[in-house]
Amino acid sequence: MTKAGRRHFIKTFGCQMNVYDSERMSEALGVSGFTAADEPESADLLILNTCHIREKAAEKVYSELGRLRQIKAAREKDGHRTTIAIAGCVAQAEGREILTRAPVVDLVVGPQSYHRLGDLVRQAEGSGGGVVDVDFPEDDKFKHLPARTASRRAPAAFLTVQEGCDKFCTFCVVPYTRGVEYSRPVREIVEEAERLAAAGVCELTLLGQNVNAYHGQSEDGASWSLARLLVRLAEIPAIERLRYTTSHPRDMSDDLIAVHGSQNKVMPYLHLPFQAGSNRILGAMNRKHTREEYLDLVRRIREARPDMALSTDIIVGFPGETDADFEQTLQLVDEVNFAQAYSFKFSARPGTPAETMDDQVPDEIKSVRLQELQAMLSAQQTAFNASCVGRRFDVLFERHGRRPGQLVGRSPYLQAVHADGADELMGRMIEVEILRAGPNSLEADILSVADSSQLVMAAV
Ligand code: SAH
Ligand code: SF4
Ligand code: F3S
Repeated sequence: MTKAGRRHFIKTFGCQMNVYDSERMSEALGVSGFTAADEPESADLLILNTCHIREKAAEKVYSELGRLRQIKAAREKDGHRTTIAIAGCVAQAEGREILTRAPVVDLVVGPQSYHRLGDLVRQAEGSGGGVVDVDFPEDDKFKHLPARTASRRAPAAFLTVQEGCDKFCTFCVVPYTRGVEYSRPVREIVEEAERLAAAGVCELTLLGQNVNAYHGQSEDGASWSLARLLVRLAEIPAIERLRYTTSHPRDMSDDLIAVHGSQNKVMPYLHLPFQAGSNRILGAMNRKHTREEYLDLVRRIREARPDMALSTDIIVGFPGETDADFEQTLQLVDEVNFAQAYSFKFSARPGTPAETMDDQVPDEIKSVRLQELQAMLSAQQTAFNASCVGRRFDVLFERHGRRPGQLVGRSPYLQAVHADGADELMGRMIEVEILRAGPNSLEADILSVADSSQLVMAAV
């Protein structure tokens, strides 16, 4: 039984996969009669989609819950029943413990149970709370989630093709929160991509914790690589751009590298985390690659696609990291020259091998190292942006800027590009010339826009 007119509000933390999951949860709740509320104060169901990757991320959940507790109390005083749910990686990692620490929570649901969300919410409402589902079910959640809705959406979309991780880097919680590696079947992905394309999407970012380890089954039973999947998705006419993230250096196969050289729709931008520059630390991290292998890989990628730009993730202060080890991280950064990067202080996570390793690095040292690294990375990013001045790019305009008449879109390298242009350019891929560059964005002139009458003339 569904009650009409109920509303949900989902707040999302963490990585792109959580953003994707929140969209799918929202669609699944639609089937149970929920629509999205604009603010938490008017929602009957409040969901936090959480991240467990570092301590700060996980702790955010509890501060956020403080706010939700007040909203729930105020609403219930007015006679509006309100359910609070914790989803995502903290839900998976902490399970029932969350109910003990925060009794205001009614439902804890792990990432592999989202297809049961409607039922779980009903259960929580019926029992007044205390519902936990953090199983890793045998059946595929993607099969049981409702198909993507065909309603008009933003021009760029995420699509999860692979989930989970078998790599077990010693610092990382993902293999425990997302489970073993799983690749969705080819047909399911192609159908979802086609639905998104029909709803106005022209840029797709394929997601996976180890996206380039993708090995999904095709209908004839063959196992497809990510390279083959990209080639297939590039055949969908409305899909103009393809990206994928996050890749592991170990799984960057020759056919995938070659796709960057042969497929124009695959963007010349790759997120390729290396984590640390010293082989001793890479070994202790169980990264399964050396600095030399990483550098060789970068060389081969740039050979296949000379205009390729790279971004990366780096951890400073992993247990046992000395000044000399850290120096090797700086040298590697210097050698590769990244267009963008994310860097973090090592955070000891419960249940991971690195949590209990000897020689934990004091926080003050981590801070000094992070500062030095970030100064270098931000200089590289600024220089990369400056090197784009005078170049012509296709930009996919996605939103309005702060100034009236200003549009904001993404370059092939994911840089934010601001330009003055008419509203009708929104959601379209337009050629621009880059005029100016800042550390975090570019400014551009729109070059020429073939309007639809010109297109028709050209076709005649
Ligand atoms: N699957 C991706 C990354 C997933 S997590 C990969 O294999 O690279 C995103 C980033 O968070 C990681 O690349 C790493 O740099 C960082 N990270 C993960 N665990 C961390 C920890 N315990 N402390 C600090 N940073 C961490
Ligand atoms: Fe975590 Fe390593 Fe798996 Fe990436 S490859 S998700 S860092 S365990
Ligand atoms: Fe965080 Fe889970 Fe993503 S731990 S980074 S939300 S996979």
